[in-house]
Amino acid sequence: MRILVSGGAGYIGSHTTLQLIAAGHDAVIADDFSRSKRSVIPRLEALAARPIEVRVVDLTDRAATDALLESAGFDAVIHFAGLKAVGESVSKPLDYYRVNLGSTLSLLAAMARQGVPSIVFSSSATVYGEHAPVPMEEDFPTSATNPYGWTKVMQEQVLRDAAVADPSLRVALLRYFNPVGAHRSGTIGEDPSGIPNNLMPLLAQVAVGRRDKLLIYGDDYPTPDGTGRRDYLHVEDLAAGHVAALDRIAGSATQVSTWNLGTGTPTSVKEMVDAFSRACGHELSVEVAPRRSGDIAESYADPSRAEAELGWRATRTIDEMCADTWRWQSNNPDGYPV
Ligand SMILES: NC(=O)c1ccc[n+]([C@@H]2O[C@H](COP(=O)([O-])OP(=O)(O)OC[C@H]3O[C@@H](n4cnc5c(N)ncnc54)[C@H](O)[C@@H]3O)[C@@H](O)[C@H]2O)c1
Repeated sequence: MRILVSGGAGYIGSHTTLQLIAAGHDAVIADDFSRSKRSVIPRLEALAARPIEVRVVDLTDRAATDALLESAGFDAVIHFAGLKAVGESVSKPLDYYRVNLGSTLSLLAAMARQGVPSIVFSSSATVYGEHAPVPMEEDFPTSATNPYGWTKVMQEQVLRDAAVADPSLRVALLRYFNPVGAHRSGTIGEDPSGIPNNLMPLLAQVAVGRRDKLLIYGDDYPTPDGTGRRDYLHVEDLAAGHVAALDRIAGSATQVSTWNLGTGTPTSVKEMVDAFSRACGHELSVEVAPRRSGDIAESYADPSRAEAELGWRATRTIDEMCADTWRWQSNNPDGYPV
């Protein structure tokens, strides 16, 4: 298939692009590089051992998105493009609604015009809100606690409504838990702009000396060691989930499919600090700070639907996630050059 990978220069999109190419698909990256660096492209081309077509497009621009889809004869879209920093979404909610909803609306309109039948969408476990029991199941009600989360809830709804209106449309809503890790080569990985929101890039920056210490937000949660527990999955396992979902929805009788992508096993902040210390070979400095508002004690997936319907399962261990993150961060202490 010829696949449009929106946001394909970003963290998850870049790893998925490589796996699409390895699976025999033709992947075209569309990105405005607002949250990624152009130097990722030659690295991807080196790993894929072939040139990769890249279109520089702001996907909130309807006319530009139309022109992109008109020009290329795509069979499917994987939609990663968007803004993802929870804290920033609280201070700049309108940017989040404009970019996340706007890019989805532009893509759906252009897909309808060109008759592109399938879209795989990057959703998030954040749509389960703050009161969901664990493990989280796809049929749970959705809600959110911040503008970023609401954009995901709303984008899911937009996609469901578009499918009602167009019986030929096939949609996969992939709810990611906590993607971490990097390609084994250590040449591509996560390079967040500004202060990272998530534990793994913070740990990696402490390990490489870019930060003094890790703040652990709360050690009085009702968990075995008192720190929050999350479902970390390797970005390579996550990328494989996209390839499986794409294959599954093409020509499927079901119009909209929702799959959790996680391991189903939670790991605490303290366990992650220990695992990362093993990976980088030295103790990491940590300090316990008060809980952050909006954080929940535990979040982990019930991944059984993805296993049954996609034949997909996350297989990489926490130690592999930390080792691969460390290889990327120690080879690229400041992330991508430009
Ligand atoms: N990383 C996570 O922890 C996580 C968890 C759950 C869901 N997600 C979702 O997965 C998707 C990809 O996440 P990521 O971690 O790879 O993020 P990322 O920031 O690394 O990648 C997003 C890419 O989209 C591009 N982009 C942003 N706005 C654009 C626009 N208007 N037009 C074209 N390109 C645009 C950016 O330049 C960037 O390359 C996002 O939708 C995110 O919300 C991520």
